[in-house]
Parts: sequence; structure tokens; C-alpha cells
Amino acid sequence: MSDDTHEGGDSHARAVVDDDEHGWSAVATEWAGLWGGFAEPVRRVLIAEAKIGPGSRVLDVGCGSGEFLATLAGAGAVAAGIDPARGMVGEARRRAPQAEVRLGGVDDLPWADVSFDVVTAVNALQFAYDTLEALGEMIRVAGPGGRIAVANWADRAHNDIDTVEIAVAAADGEEPQPDGDLRLEGGLEELFRDAGLEVLSAGLVELPWEAEDDDALVRGVLLGAPPEERRASAPVVLAAARPFVRPGGGYRLLNAFRYVVGRVPD
Ligand SMILES: C[S@@+](CC[C@H](N)C(=O)[O-])C[C@H]1O[C@@H](n2cnc3c(N)ncnc32)[C@H](O)[C@@H]1O
Repeated sequence: MSDDTHEGGDSHARAVVDDDEHGWSAVATEWAGLWGGFAEPVRRVLIAEAKIGPGSRVLDVGCGSGEFLATLAGAGAVAAGIDPARGMVGEARRRAPQAEVRLGGVDDLPWADVSFDVVTAVNALQFAYDTLEALGEMIRVAGPGGRIAVANWADRAHNDIDTVEIAVAAADGEEPQPDGDLRLEGGLEELFRDAGLEVLSAGLVELPWEAEDDDALVRGVLLGAPPEERRASAPVVLAAARPFVRPGGGYRLLNAFRYVVGRVPD
């Protein structure tokens, strides 16, 4: 999937490649409905810890369906976003019309050096081709004194959804994948130090995810799975999620993200 249009207009404008290798375009609307607001508590922490306020120039990489861009604009920031999935870019432009949203990946950001005060990535950096190089791009467009703020899923023990996903994997005869470095305590800080950033703050934020009914639970857990796979795995999902049934109906799964905020040295 590619096209040769140019988006941008600064000295870093280049051929834009619709490089949605993870298939996010196809699930963009469903993602927005089921998961778009999920990370809001950690986004609020990033705003406070990175000292984002009126007039701050902020780039959100892997902006998805644009909820953070809307929150940033609501906080008075001058928000920009980028995402390689065309469907996500469309959602983000609708949801945050004040923000400039470009098509592309964190690996090659189409902005000049020192364009932003803060660059953020929420639940997105793990999709970069090379995490350290991607962080280098975020640092380049922030420049000396700029802040970089990243948040990602915490390790499995903190996430009710992992209980459900492990049950689905086991039913398919699969072993769960080990936790990646970015999920582990201290992993994000180590990455930041490797990239030459000064770590300003880090922590863990609990994020509840709620599903109104069985259908929303199954669609949320098996996002993007073909219909026949959803039908086959639905009973496993429902059985594994029984501990998370809300008293009034539906489900509440408690999960957590780790975050780190750093500063680019002068
Ligand atoms: C799990 S979603 C998170 C979206 C949003 N940040 C949020 O917190 O709701 C991951 C997003 O990362 C995007 N993505 C995938 N590969 C990427 C890359 N190389 N650079 C930047 N974003 C990427 C996907 O298209 C998707 O929109």
C-alpha cells in the first residue's frame, strides 16, 4: 500500500508511504469506539509531568483516532499528530479538527528539527521498526530543552486483559509471548537514558477498561480478528472475563501503563 503524494510543506516534506503493516486502518472506527478513551488517565499525567499548557507545541506520534490531540487542544496546546494508518488519520482529523495531522510513522518524522516543545507517544512506540532510532527522531523534532513523554502497557501481572488474552492463546495451543522490555519496570527509563535523555519522572498509572456487554468485550479483546475467529474464541473470552463482571452488568478490567518523561539535554 503506498502513494506518492506529499503532505507537509516544510523542508522535511517527503513522499508519504501508507505503511500500515499492522492493519490499524481497518479497525480505526472500532478502535475509537472501544479503546479510544482508554488511555485518558495516563494522557493527563503526561500533560502535567511534561508541563504542557496553553501555547505548548506538542506532537503526538502514533496518534491513532485523535483523542489525545483533542485533549491537548482543549488544554490550549498547539497540537499535531502523525500516524501511518490512513483510517486513523481520518478519525483523528475528524475528532481534533484544530490539530495538524499527517500520514506517516515515527521512524521518519516529516518535520524540521526543533519544531516542538513536547513530543509524546502513547501505546505506539512498540510499533516502530527500531525503538531507539524512533526515539532519536522524536528527540530531533523536539530539540535541546524539549520534553519527550512515552507511555506503554505495563507488564502482564498488572493487566486483567492479559488474563483473558492468555486464556485465548492457551485455547489455541499457543504460549503467551514474554513481556517486552518496554513493559518492564525501569524499561522505559533505560531506553531514555540509552537515547541520551535526562529522565524527569516515571511511574505507573492504572487504567480501567469497561465493556458494556458481552459483544463489546469480545470485540474489544479480539479487535481485528476475522468474524469466524471471533465466534470461535468468544466462549473462551467470556469464561476468562467472569471475574471482571460489573455488579450492574458489563465488564470492568483494570490494566496499567508505565510512563516516562524526559528532557533533551542542551
Ligand atoms: C494501539 S494504537 C494507539 C493509538 C493512540 N496513541 C492511543 O493511545 O489511543 C497504536 C497506533 O500506533 C500506530 N502506529 C503503528 N506503527 C507506527 C509507527 N511506525 N509509527 C507511528 N505510529 C505507528 C498505529 O497506526 C495505531 O494508530
